[in-house]
Amino acid sequence: MSGSVVLGIETSCDETAAAVVVDGRKVLSSVVSSQVDLHARFGGVVPEIASRAHVELLTPVVAEAMLSAGIEPEELDAVAATVGPGLVGALLVGVSTAKSLALVWDIPFVAVNHLEAHLHAAFLEEPDLELPAVVLMVSGGHTMLIHWEDHGRYRLLGETLDDAAGEAFDKVARYLGLGYPGGPAIDALSLEGNPEAVAFKRPMIDVGYDFSFSGIKTAVVNHVRKHPETSTEDVAASFQAAMVDTLVTKARRAAHELGAKSLGLGGGVAANSLLRERLLSVCVDDGYQAYVPSRSMCTDNAAMVAACGWYRLGVDGPSSLDLGAEPNLRLPTVD
Ligand code: KG4
Ligand code: ZN
Repeated sequence: MSGSVVLGIETSCDETAAAVVVDGRKVLSSVVSSQVDLHARFGGVVPEIASRAHVELLTPVVAEAMLSAGIEPEELDAVAATVGPGLVGALLVGVSTAKSLALVWDIPFVAVNHLEAHLHAAFLEEPDLELPAVVLMVSGGHTMLIHWEDHGRYRLLGETLDDAAGEAFDKVARYLGLGYPGGPAIDALSLEGNPEAVAFKRPMIDVGYDFSFSGIKTAVVNHVRKHPETSTEDVAASFQAAMVDTLVTKARRAAHELGAKSLGLGGGVAANSLLRERLLSVCVDDGYQAYVPSRSMCTDNAAMVAACGWYRLGVDGPSSLDLGAEPNLRLPTVD
């Protein structure tokens, strides 16, 4: 195999994943085993259950990734794993497995930042993505507006002051009795509702680049209490419209003010239909190159970890085997 072949491993939350990627661009295999069913009955990810499931699933998932890529261990140039941010027990499973494989196979180990990996997902699908870009990274744990100035140069423009966007979707869905994870349920139900039925406030929409979502959640609860006659479809659609409007308005303003060439999305909430549609139409109207990842690339996967690992190996070289899990790791920003 010509090119640099990296095995990526991802276990930061409730997805056990492994992938083989060449030169940070060409995906030979990408295997994701979701634990979502294991956690659904608890209404959220249970850290202890996640760690145990990673222990059981990771070896077969790695074996399947290697097999379907048709790659032998001696053809690998490095093994990369997410070291943070994430759940400490879950991260440790991936990190210790990756370090063991690196030792046994005598190849470099590369520590990967999960947030930087989400950004690198872009190059797997849009190899010609132009920088600088503004990226809205929205997941169950994060809501960040990032100015991706150049390769390896990130500036954090703003983040959530309270709930993450996905967390707001999940909490509102739970309140409406729609189950877990809530984002996809609200997305689906909103198709049958009127987004203008309830005019939920768009928090801080014209102020700075930070976000605050706990107010919308409270507004939904207050509205349902006062107006039980409003259909759940209308509440869901109106809530989603308020969330998406807030997210897209700020991302659009940032792209304009910073002179970005591209505007993109990342993280699990990027799977939201309305968010995708609205972001794409902003890109068409304002002339940005759009990056709206495929749904499988929005959620956690190891192809993005291998792609980011390949990039980090080139820039920083191998990571030390003394490195452990770093549950509170932040995106390496320039300021
Ligand atoms: O990135 P991710 O898979 O995991 C982390 O949180 O790191 O994101 C999961 C989040 C959950 O909060 C889920 O409800 C949300 O992404 N989500 C969505 C949609 N699909 C997943 N939110 C809104 N609309 C969706 N279609
Ligand atoms: Zn993630």
